[in-house]
Amino acid sequence: MDPIVVGITGGSGALLAQRAVDQLLASDVPVALACSAAGRMVWQEEMDEPFGAALERWRRSSLFTTYAVGELKAPIASGTFPTAGMLVVPCSMNTLAAIAHGLSDNLIRRAADVTLKEGRKLVLVPRETPLSAIHLENMLALARMGVTILSPEPAFYLHPQSIDDVVAFIVGRALNALGVPNALPDHLRYQRRSE
Ligand SMILES: Cc1cc2nc3c(=O)[nH]c(=O)nc-3n(C[C@H](O)[C@H](O)[C@H](O)COP(=O)(O)O)c2cc1C
Repeated sequence: MDPIVVGITGGSGALLAQRAVDQLLASDVPVALACSAAGRMVWQEEMDEPFGAALERWRRSSLFTTYAVGELKAPIASGTFPTAGMLVVPCSMNTLAAIAHGLSDNLIRRAADVTLKEGRKLVLVPRETPLSAIHLENMLALARMGVTILSPEPAFYLHPQSIDDVVAFIVGRALNALGVPNALPDHLRYQRRSE
């Protein structure tokens, strides 16, 4: 299978990024990762596992490749390199604005631009609250281009018991949107409540 490109940016929610990469590799999906400087900074603020330790862990998989965010010569910067789509998780409003306006001055933005121009699946997990008109207009522009805007909102109707449930649900939905099968754990799949 072609790799899924994962971009980690400086929105809050590093847990979502950690879970997404873990789950893709556990599902035997190759991952090509790039993380912005702000993505690393927020990760260090939010996570128990240092970013370097996560990279070391993921590198043990032959399915995992990582590129520096300034590495504009990386394969994922070119449309001729085949990929199975791209996930930006979490997606900062900064990166969201750049993608919406076709800016490609770092590897995450360029890879997103390539994903769009090649007509591949692009899934963004934007994180900000409240949202300004600028944020909403950028999201609308992207949605109109076929981008999936998957905001990290809990499925209250599934009665999540923990942050882990919330994270598993959002990541599962994001991976489903990229065509990764069985991404949601059984207990987080929709079931009609008995009367
Ligand atoms: C602890 C922390 C949390 C942040 N959370 C958010 C957030 O939820 N959403 C957002 O758009 N920006 C957030 N930011 C600001 C971004 O990191 C900042 O705009 C940065 O320039 C984004 O760069 P990038 O898009 O290249 O990753 C946060 C910054 C810090 C330090």
